[in-house]
Amino acid sequence: MRPNRMARSHHVNGMSVNVEDTRTCICDLGLAPQHAALFRAIQQSFVRLSLCTAPVFCRIAESRVGPPALHLKYGCSRFADAAPSAERRLYQSVPHISIKPLTRAISARVRSNYEENYMTRTVCQIESESGQDELRRDDYFPTLVFSTLLHDAESMNKEILAAITQERDRDAKGIERSNFRSLGGWHSHNNLHKDSKFTRLTNRIHKVAAGVSDNLGYNKGRHLEVTTMWSISNPPGSSNRAHIHPGALWSGVYYVQAPEGAGQIEFIDPRTVNLMNYASYMPNTKRKTECWTKVKVKPVAGKMLFFPSWLYHSVEPNLSNAKGRDGERVIISFNINQKVKPKSK
Ligand SMILES: [Fe+2]
Repeated sequence: MRPNRMARSHHVNGMSVNVEDTRTCICDLGLAPQHAALFRAIQQSFVRLSLCTAPVFCRIAESRVGPPALHLKYGCSRFADAAPSAERRLYQSVPHISIKPLTRAISARVRSNYEENYMTRTVCQIESESGQDELRRDDYFPTLVFSTLLHDAESMNKEILAAITQERDRDAKGIERSNFRSLGGWHSHNNLHKDSKFTRLTNRIHKVAAGVSDNLGYNKGRHLEVTTMWSISNPPGSSNRAHIHPGALWSGVYYVQAPEGAGQIEFIDPRTVNLMNYASYMPNTKRKTECWTKVKVKPVAGKMLFFPSWLYHSVEPNLSNAKGRDGERVIISFNINQKVKPKSK
């Protein structure tokens, strides 16, 4: 939503409120402007924004240092219910309200609240004859896919591609798993992580895995470790069957070479019971991500994806027009499990 640049001042109980600032703040948070409701809330000394996450109350208070600038404090509704009257008095002594400089802080706090509240969000207010009810939503059982783009991909990929070529020369037949050997798809053995030529990449995978582990609050006495790693090269026309990776916690893919037209990886909705009965959506409208039943990710050299090993995925046929090995879609794939960290000496 684009911020409205029309600056206007409104006076609420003798105090000036800059509409541009207010609307910018709201727009940055992805909210529809609701000035009337906002002003009513300001009069009550609490600004309650119906955010896309848990309700946030912004307490307006004087800054302790410098000019009479203001700052906001935030809390979830459960804490804000007991609004002390002292806060109201404090607010009434403030001559001017400026929200715009605080947008970033609000956004950060909103994200924090979002996580703290287990993705609970307020969807809308439901009007009834006698008042309003709040419709809230929790997103349980999300399917997480992590991604990163390695900053040193160019040199990394040169090194990896040379190592893969060497491995293909040594073992041209490879093995058959999700690849179609009859269509030229080559699959290496599964222990590339034990080969020193791939150590640089394996180390980087471990670093990304540590980020995933930290993000999910995994036991710090354990770490995510690569247990198997292999390469797949798909020449034009080749693809990979839908499959999962049994025996692993997380799996991943790193794109070494991805010419234009190289097949996308396709993740398939694991909530198969959804197929029992499905909803009709508005035509010609982008469907909300939470309502998708498949997700395709375009391969980009240097990109790494982490996904749950139980998540079904396949790879589209490589439609590259590039000639020779330049037209191949080349990846390194890996499985990861949680292992007890060795004790440091
Ligand atoms: Fe796979």
